[in-house]
Amino acid sequence: MKKLVITGGKKLNGNISIAGAKNAALPLMVASILTEETLTLSNLPHVSDISTMANLLASIGVDIEIDGTGIDGSLQARTINLKAYEINNSEASYDLVRKMRASILIMGPLLARFGKARISLPGGCAIGTRPIDLHLKAMEKLGAKITLNHGYVDAEAENGLIGSEINFEKVSVGATENVLMAASLAKGETIVNNAACEPEIVDLANCLNAMGAKISGAGTPIIKITGVEKLHGAKHKIIADRIEAGTYAIAAIISGGCIKIKGVELSLFTGFREELEKAGAVITKISDDEIEFKRVCESINPVNISTQPFPGFPTDMQAQFMALMTISNHSKGSASIEENIFENRFMHVLELVRMGAEIELHNNLAIVKGNNKLMGAEVMATDLRASVSLVLAALVAEGKTTINRLYHLERGYENLADKLISCGADISIIY
Ligand code: UD1
Repeated sequence: MKKLVITGGKKLNGNISIAGAKNAALPLMVASILTEETLTLSNLPHVSDISTMANLLASIGVDIEIDGTGIDGSLQARTINLKAYEINNSEASYDLVRKMRASILIMGPLLARFGKARISLPGGCAIGTRPIDLHLKAMEKLGAKITLNHGYVDAEAENGLIGSEINFEKVSVGATENVLMAASLAKGETIVNNAACEPEIVDLANCLNAMGAKISGAGTPIIKITGVEKLHGAKHKIIADRIEAGTYAIAAIISGGCIKIKGVELSLFTGFREELEKAGAVITKISDDEIEFKRVCESINPVNISTQPFPGFPTDMQAQFMALMTISNHSKGSASIEENIFENRFMHVLELVRMGAEIELHNNLAIVKGNNKLMGAEVMATDLRASVSLVLAALVAEGKTTINRLYHLERGYENLADKLISCGADISIIY
C-alpha cells in the first residue's frame, strides 16, 4: 500500500498553487442534477472525492465529460461538464455514502427535479456519529415524505416540493446546501434560518443563481430562496480551497520557511488568519491571489483555539493547527484546542504523541504543551485532516516518519507530496 516517508528538518521555501475547493466542488457537481442542460465547472481539483462523486452521478445517469488545461499550463483536466438530461436511478448506495458522506447531497436535487430519492443511511465515521437528521427534517419541511427501510432513506415528493420556513437547530454546511438546491425548484418561497455561512455555501448560491435560481442572503445566517420552475445550464469557476491553502501556510510556518501561495484570496483565511499571526506567521498579500507566509521569530507562540462554524476557526484546520502547537514555546504556556463541531475529531492526538508531542485530552479539549522534540515514527493516517497534520509534524520531526494509509490524504489534497517536495521537503512516495 502507498506510503509517504518524510525526513524532517528542511525549511520549506517556494511557490504552491492551490486547487479548487473540494468542499465547494462536491455540491456544485450535484447541482447539475437540477437541470437538463450542461453545467460546466472549472478549477476542478484532482482529488479522489471528486472521482467518487463523478462515479455516483454517472451511476444515476448524469453524463460527465472532463476536459481543459491545467492551472500551470500543464495538461491536467480542470473543467468538467455535467449533463443530467434524464435520471435512470435515484439511489445512493451504502458503499458510496459510507465512502463519502457528501453523497447525501443528491437527495434534495433528486427530490426537487424527479420527486424521489433513495439514500443509504451513512452510519458513524472516524470523526463522529455524523447523523443526517437535519437534512431529513428540512426535506420533510419542504413537503417530502420520508421513510426508513432496511438502512435506506426513501424520500418522495410526487407533486414537487413546496417552499417553507426552515429553522436549523444546529448549523450544518451539508444540510444548508441540500436545502438551497431543493428549494431552488420548490413552489414558492423558502426561508432558511441559522444557515451555514461558509464561503462554499456562497459559491454554491452564486452558481445556482447563474443557473436561474433566485437566492439571496447566502453567506449570512438567513437565506431566502424563491423557487423557479426550471433551471438552465451555466459555467462556473470553483472557488479556491481555503483548507488546502491554510495547510501549506502551516507547512511554511512550522518548518521556519517561506511559501508563496497562489490562486487564493486573503479573505478566504477568515477564521484562522489571526491565529496564524499570533502563532508567529508573517502574512503578506503579494497580489489579489497570491499570499506569502513565513515565520521570522525563532519559536512558535502557543495560541488557544476553539472550532466554530464560519466565520469561526474551521474544524477542518484544527488538526493542522495542533501539529503547529506541538512545537510551540512552552515557556510561554500551553495551547488549548477545543473541538466543537465533531465529537471525535482528535484521532491525530495519539499519533502525534507517538511522535513525541505532549498532549492531554479532556473530552473535547486538548491541552498541547509545546516542545521541540518531535521524532519521526511510523504513524497511521485516520482521516483526511488528521493525516495531513501528521505530514506537517513529520516536516519538523527528527529523522524519518512513515505515513501509512495514504488514501485518506488523496481524498482532499492534490499532489500533496509533489507540492511539498517542490519547496524543498525530503519526501519519498513508496508504492
Ligand atoms: C462539511 C465539510 C467538512 C467540514 C464540515 C464542518 C463538505 C463535503 N464537508 O461537512 O469538511 O468539516 O462541513 O465545517 O463540505 N449534523 C447533525 N445532523 C445533520 C447534519 C449534521 O447533527 O443532519 C452535525 C454533524 O454531526 C456535525 C455538525 O452538525 O457535528 C456540522 O456538520 P455539517 O456542517 O453538516 O458537516 P458536513 O456538511 O458533513
